[in-house]
Amino acid sequence: GIFISMVAQRIEPNYDESKVPVYELPPLLVSAKGKQIKSIKQWESIRRPEILEMFSSQMFGKTPVSPFTTSYEVVSEDANALDGKATCKQLRISFSNGNTERSMLMLIYLPNHIKGKVPLFFAYNFDGNQTVSSDPGILFSNHTSENKRGLKVRRWPIEMIISKGYGVATACYHDIFYDEKDKHAESILPLLGYNPGQPLEGDSWQAIGAWAWGMSRAMDYFETDSRIDAKRIALMGHSRHGKAALWAGAQDQRFAIVISNESGCGGAALSKRAYGETVAVITNSFPHWFCPNFSRFANNEQSLPFDQHELIALIAPRPVYVASAVDDRWADPKGEYLSAFHAGEVYRLYGYDGLPSEEMPALNTPVISRVGYHIRTGVHDVTDFDWQCYLNFADKWMK
Ligand code: GCU
Repeated sequence: GIFISMVAQRIEPNYDESKVPVYELPPLLVSAKGKQIKSIKQWESIRRPEILEMFSSQMFGKTPVSPFTTSYEVVSEDANALDGKATCKQLRISFSNGNTERSMLMLIYLPNHIKGKVPLFFAYNFDGNQTVSSDPGILFSNHTSENKRGLKVRRWPIEMIISKGYGVATACYHDIFYDEKDKHAESILPLLGYNPGQPLEGDSWQAIGAWAWGMSRAMDYFETDSRIDAKRIALMGHSRHGKAALWAGAQDQRFAIVISNESGCGGAALSKRAYGETVAVITNSFPHWFCPNFSRFANNEQSLPFDQHELIALIAPRPVYVASAVDDRWADPKGEYLSAFHAGEVYRLYGYDGLPSEEMPALNTPVISRVGYHIRTGVHDVTDFDWQCYLNFADKWMK
């Protein structure tokens, strides 16, 4: 065989605040033509579309609009789950364009003590639906042959969410795009016009774009379920799923709340700070995440015509929550905070409060305005504390 050895340059991450480059953030409220954006109308008709276009052509790639059909098959329903506290439903969501078929397995818990339509959190899982609870009735997601049943229970306080009156739904992100490079052919991309073998365009979408698309397909389902209030869906994403959640929430205004849990580089963190994970590192380690054009900004963040505060601003005026963990320096907590802070400019245009100060709040002290934020003690993870904050945030804005 022929061995091609690639010697990736090891770049030490910068964790020294004094070495963060001097940068200037692109202004949110000035159009490409230099026009001051002063009203909601100007934001929505001029600036918002410009920003959406930049993220789509230069970072996440264009989301194709080619036609496909969707069908829903309920594969199990248990009205007595969690000792009667919840209804548990599993659903196969199938997509077809006539030639290509793909599917996503969704697991849903709905609180039984709430009459009528319930608000709900949706978040992908990393390792299969069977990892979020130890219930032996939970089916394996596609691509998850290994039985990791219950492995991630700690990150999914389902009973707590149910007891607060919210539903919770999940699906495995691998169902949409298996998270490795060169998995385009198996992903949902061929369903939407991608021809395997054909070289990617600079603005071709890849995994993060596809995961965001899958989040919108979950929303399509919620709109059809008579027990779910599709107008009160909180979209939560941890880490790489947080990057996808912000992008999905930016494009699809049906999501009522968007939550980024430690989404870091390519998510909530400002790229221009180049602190922790950088554009060079992420596009090199995960060449299948962003559109190819994004690599042009590797070691060249100063030339980025946008930054991540603008991604968060695209979610305005809907409530958005950004969360960090103090030992998750790789995700640049300060960069996550600053982008949430600066997005506040657009929230204020709508008459809402953003985060009150450029200074980060104290540890474990959530700040809850229309833009929410906390930095907790601990490492890169999803904890009960994180969920408690999201439940409080949802109580404030969705109840
Ligand atoms: C890696 C990656 C991050 C990502 C994280 C995760 O650390 O570099 O960008 O957010 O994985 O998804 O857990």
